[in-house]
Amino acid sequence: MKILKTVKEVKEEVKSWKEQGLQIGLVPTMGWLHEGHLSLIKNARENNDRVAVSIFVNPMQFGPDEDFDSYPRDLERDAKLCEEAGVDLIFAPQPEEMYPNGFCSYVDMNGLTGGLCGKSRPIHFRGVQTVVNKLFNIVTPDNAYFGEKDTQQLAVIKRMVLDLNMNVKICGCPIIREEDGLAKSSRNSYLSPEERALAPIINKAMTAGKEMIIKGERDSAKVIKAISDIILSVGVTKIDYVSIVDSLTLEPVEKIESDILCACAVYMGTSARLIDNFSLEIKG
Ligand code: PAJ
Repeated sequence: MKILKTVKEVKEEVKSWKEQGLQIGLVPTMGWLHEGHLSLIKNARENNDRVAVSIFVNPMQFGPDEDFDSYPRDLERDAKLCEEAGVDLIFAPQPEEMYPNGFCSYVDMNGLTGGLCGKSRPIHFRGVQTVVNKLFNIVTPDNAYFGEKDTQQLAVIKRMVLDLNMNVKICGCPIIREEDGLAKSSRNSYLSPEERALAPIINKAMTAGKEMIIKGERDSAKVIKAISDIILSVGVTKIDYVSIVDSLTLEPVEKIESDILCACAVYMGTSARLIDNFSLEIKG
């Protein structure tokens, strides 16, 4: 496994893969890898000749008051996990490599990014789109793997690829959870033992909301209130949002009549903002 830090080196390596006619899978990450990331890597490993993983805490997708500085980083640990998972190449650039002096281009969109996480993180998806676009141009993957845990991100990337005629297939992978239901996340490491003990309430509440819809509840407000009440009942004080939106447009729906996405973001304590979601097909 090669660990490369410059765009030039990655392009050279990828060129030799292309010359051999090899199929390339890319897993973009910000590192501090866990089983969620590893499930993406496994999927990539099974379906491609070469697997590249990018490890880059992307400053452009963090707001000024967000956790860019404190985001956990350990390339040595991540490299070991990648090696064990059969990764061929890690691309781990420094910010100056990705955003050299004079950098001033962006990829952005008008739809899909205004609600859900985009509301409290207004510049986030522009940063994600820009860095993912750059990674696609550098690695030129045939397939790229993203988790359904960040379901709005997945929708944004799929739309970007469609709108801009990009030659890469976007593969969505299911949410990997802890045994108690908490979605795995690099940010779970911010949780104190007390917060960690409370955190599974998010998935418990979401599951209860899902059950309500399965049993026939069609009023979004009632489901959202039930989910929020359960989360608040354990002493969590700040919910960013609980929303029910149309699966395709990500626009809020009042009545649940077609396929929906229910998503939430919850602050656990002062430092961790955790997200979760479920999708449901609604048969008319
Ligand atoms: P990061 O948070 O490191 O996540 C990298 C990928 O792993 C994303 O596609 C994310 O959805 C997926 N992932 C994280 N936790 C998961 C879980 N529990 N189950 C399944 N998949 C999971 O998302 C980013 O980085 C960045 O925004 C990035 C796309 C790399 C751009 O900077």
